[in-house]
Amino acid sequence: MTSQSSPGKAAPLKRETFSSRRLFILSAIGSAVGLGNIWRFPYIAYDNGGGAFLIPYLVALLTAGIPLLFLDYAVGHKFRGSAPLAYRRLHRAAEPLGWWQVLVCFVIAAYYAVIIAWSLMYTIFSFTEAWGDDAEGYFFGTFLGVAEAPGLGFDFVPSVFFPLLVTWLAVIVIMAAGIRKGISRANSVLLPLLVVMFLLLVVQSLFLPGAAQGLNAFFTPDWSSLADPSVWAAAYGHIFFSLSVGYGIMVTYSSYLKRRTDLTGSGMVVAFSNSGFEILAGIGVFAALGFMAQAAGTGVNEVVTQGIGLAFVAFPTIVSQAPFGALMGVLFFGSLVFAGITSLISVLEVIVAAVQDKLGWGRVKASLVVSILVAVVSLGLFPTATGLYLLDTSDAFVNSFGITLGALVTVVVLAWFLRKLPLLSAHLNRVSTVKMRGTWMVLVSVVVPLALIYMVANEFISKISTPYEGYPDWFVGVFGWGMAGGLVVLALVLTFIPWSRTSKANHDPEYDSLVEREAKETAL
Ligand code: ALA
Repeated sequence: MTSQSSPGKAAPLKRETFSSRRLFILSAIGSAVGLGNIWRFPYIAYDNGGGAFLIPYLVALLTAGIPLLFLDYAVGHKFRGSAPLAYRRLHRAAEPLGWWQVLVCFVIAAYYAVIIAWSLMYTIFSFTEAWGDDAEGYFFGTFLGVAEAPGLGFDFVPSVFFPLLVTWLAVIVIMAAGIRKGISRANSVLLPLLVVMFLLLVVQSLFLPGAAQGLNAFFTPDWSSLADPSVWAAAYGHIFFSLSVGYGIMVTYSSYLKRRTDLTGSGMVVAFSNSGFEILAGIGVFAALGFMAQAAGTGVNEVVTQGIGLAFVAFPTIVSQAPFGALMGVLFFGSLVFAGITSLISVLEVIVAAVQDKLGWGRVKASLVVSILVAVVSLGLFPTATGLYLLDTSDAFVNSFGITLGALVTVVVLAWFLRKLPLLSAHLNRVSTVKMRGTWMVLVSVVVPLALIYMVANEFISKISTPYEGYPDWFVGVFGWGMAGGLVVLALVLTFIPWSRTSKANHDPEYDSLVEREAKETAL
């Protein structure tokens, strides 16, 4: 078959590619290194055995993170499509898996942008220490205007709305410019900047008095934690979100790779860079927390926190007390902004690519429509008095029942029902340097599902038995359970919407000729 279109059908647009493997690796690292690395990992490691946590972490990385990363790469690269199209080409019945991942990305993108917007404001606030001597009261009260309790108080909060608008405008421009001029370029500027800024932050933190005390708290191993299954679950739970596997990102990015590309070699570079950054973040954050504890005359255990509390309460306090505090604030919050943007664009790309494939739309139209739609939801829900509760609830439920449950269903369907692992492993081996053997298939079909079943069951039991964060049942029911269940239903609905006649699913000479060429090569 040639690349000419058949009569009566519009010629489909050629699929964009990353212009080099280096840019793909850079973009994949940009996606993986995000808020999860900076504000989740240090606390999870500390809370689950300190130095000893590195063992379950490495085991989780090698037995689940990297094998699933390869699985995502194999699906995206072999079937050259957005998540729904790639899974559909793998097997028609698998298409809903792709839509599920697209919807998970919709939810993540809507709230992830909000945290970037807060960080943007806090980069500016670092110069004036706008929070005064009450970082907590300032953040929750003055800045976010949070309501007393979760509810339907959608009072408008302009201090969040405007930076969020700026964030979305920047992201929309990147998305509309495409893979080469938008995503690759943004990553090649922002990622090196992030690394330099973060290294400077770590050096500055290490020179603070009390830093050694913080590092001691972070690294001192509690070997008994290795006998605790919840510590292992924490390691496995963290690695999926952190490496950006299991929710469509790596399927989508690898679909833009050229035909001859070392997939597994690239995956190793991405995975170890992500982990390296994570450990660096642990060092920087704990050195700074050690300083904070010393200044307050308490132990590190009294000041340690994660997520929003770490970034927007503990760090502002540190900025106020540390020498050259403004510099430290700019480095820390600037790092959150850059790490956040390079991840957010990868999350959005999952949706943009899916819409492009399904409707046969061009890049600019698809990215504008998708980004504006997500931006409207994000701007409508989160800069409100109840926005923080919504963010917290959607983050918790989309992680447990979007990413984790979604990854479980995907591996079980691919490995056990459709039995596609031999085909995918052959593809990885055909193009890569590090060859996959039986071990990879055992990891993906046995170890990963077992770890995921344990995690999903645990999450389910804990979320059923106690109302999430003590929020009202109706609130968790609608925005937690309702949202998570809605994703599954909507994934099925989207599957049943017919693919446009000009879409890649019906008409893709580029892909057809690729399949033909591969078949010939295999026959030789
Ligand atoms: N992988 C990205 C993070 O860690 C989404 O934040």
